[in-house]
Amino acid sequence: TEKPTALIMIFGATGDLANRKLFPSLYNLFEKGKLDRFAVVGVARRALSNEEFQLKVKESVKENGETDPKADLDEFVSKFYYHSHDVTDSSSYLALGKLSEELDSHYGLNGNRIFYLAMAPEFFGTIAEHLKKDKLTDVSGFKRLVIEKPFGHDLESAKVLNKQIRTAFTEDEIYRIDHYLGKEMVQNIEVIRFANAMFEPLWNNRYISNIQVTSSETLGVEERGRYYEKSGALRDMVQNHMLQMVSLLAMEPPIKLTTDEIRSEKVRVFRALRPIKDGEVNEYFVRGQYDKGVMNEKEVPAYRQEEMVDPESNTETFVAGKLMIDNFRWAGVPFYIRTGKRMKAKSTKIVIQFKDIPMDLYYQPEKTVNPNLLVIHIQPEEGITLHLNAKKSGQGDATPVKLNYANKGIDGLNTPEAYEKLLYDSLRGDATNFTHWDEVALSWSFVDNISKVWENTKEPSFPNYASGSMGPDAADKLLEQDGFFWWPFNDIDVENC
Ligand code: BG6
Repeated sequence: TEKPTALIMIFGATGDLANRKLFPSLYNLFEKGKLDRFAVVGVARRALSNEEFQLKVKESVKENGETDPKADLDEFVSKFYYHSHDVTDSSSYLALGKLSEELDSHYGLNGNRIFYLAMAPEFFGTIAEHLKKDKLTDVSGFKRLVIEKPFGHDLESAKVLNKQIRTAFTEDEIYRIDHYLGKEMVQNIEVIRFANAMFEPLWNNRYISNIQVTSSETLGVEERGRYYEKSGALRDMVQNHMLQMVSLLAMEPPIKLTTDEIRSEKVRVFRALRPIKDGEVNEYFVRGQYDKGVMNEKEVPAYRQEEMVDPESNTETFVAGKLMIDNFRWAGVPFYIRTGKRMKAKSTKIVIQFKDIPMDLYYQPEKTVNPNLLVIHIQPEEGITLHLNAKKSGQGDATPVKLNYANKGIDGLNTPEAYEKLLYDSLRGDATNFTHWDEVALSWSFVDNISKVWENTKEPSFPNYASGSMGPDAADKLLEQDGFFWWPFNDIDVENC
């Protein structure tokens, strides 16, 4: 493929995301020779010289980058420029436009522009409107808007936001980031499903009894209390990452691997997601909030004691839910999801549990044959384990065994890899691993039903799980009442295979 050429404008260039993920990812692309001609303009309020900004970029790559920065780091940062910006002031945009034109002719960037908004979403609309009004979007090449979550707070606010950005960009030009879609093993879900003859015939309600998707974190809310108080785990993780993983697991095979075909199959899953009615929220969903506890031999505070958090906060830091997908393939198969902060381990895993064998010939009192499991390890280990039963040497009965594929062994957490891939995709114009508006709208309308009820009822049991645990007991009950349980972490670690 042709190497991309563009001017990349990063709004929020002095922020955390740019520092931790975007600069190191861009450096990796540069270092691997994946970029053709490019220049970056860092845009933020603070006054900085180009030199000061370049120094920050350098530090960011050294501290957060995966690779040992090579000698070409100086050449890399020489392409970075800084523009001190007032998001509401037209003259500031005009100056930015002028700088862009100059850089474009200096570097030969073919009039291509990426506008990356790595900042608080309350400014997305204002910025998009100014980009149009002040003619920064009048370019001879392509123009693309890359935006971070949260995309709205609920369906209504998401619609308003979408309308604002659509004044300056078409749907095809909007790249809504869900960084889970940039993860290697999330992208692998489709390959595992559609490149193997042995899974797809079983991938339905005749052979699968339930699917469990867990994304647990050990970190607490850190310094994000202000944002998190208004968000909670449901909006922060379920509306986007968790539902995206479910849609990839549940979608029909696309007729081609094109952006439109894949997205439209995913949208059909969202359309089949059974809405939760007001009276059913407690039956299908469980919320939790972390209490103090001991993690890594250190005492950690309860959520309510965190900075910028209301001491009587009703915000959930944990969600477990049961989703039903009402279509021919999935009728009757529960998809359980679970995510939370301050849990026992940092881990994202998908367990596909197959139905029991029709008749257990190997039954012994207290010992039934294990169901087959396919486990997709998203992070921190990346791989697949297939859990079967076999006769072990010298033993007469069926014993669980595991077939193991490690994608690349134990990896560091939070590597910029997902961002590297997504940035590259946005530069190449491949929107497959970004969320389409239809997916955003449908997932908000699913989540809104739940958050409306939760917001209006104070949860008396909060805080209801100790830091370092696997969440509140009610999350276990959710599965027990259906005759299932969450497959424990130790059983399925790639390392122990
Ligand atoms: C973000 C959430 O989208 O995802 C954070 O806002 C969360 O609260 C993070 O910590 C988890 O991402 P990852 O890649 O560390 O699993």
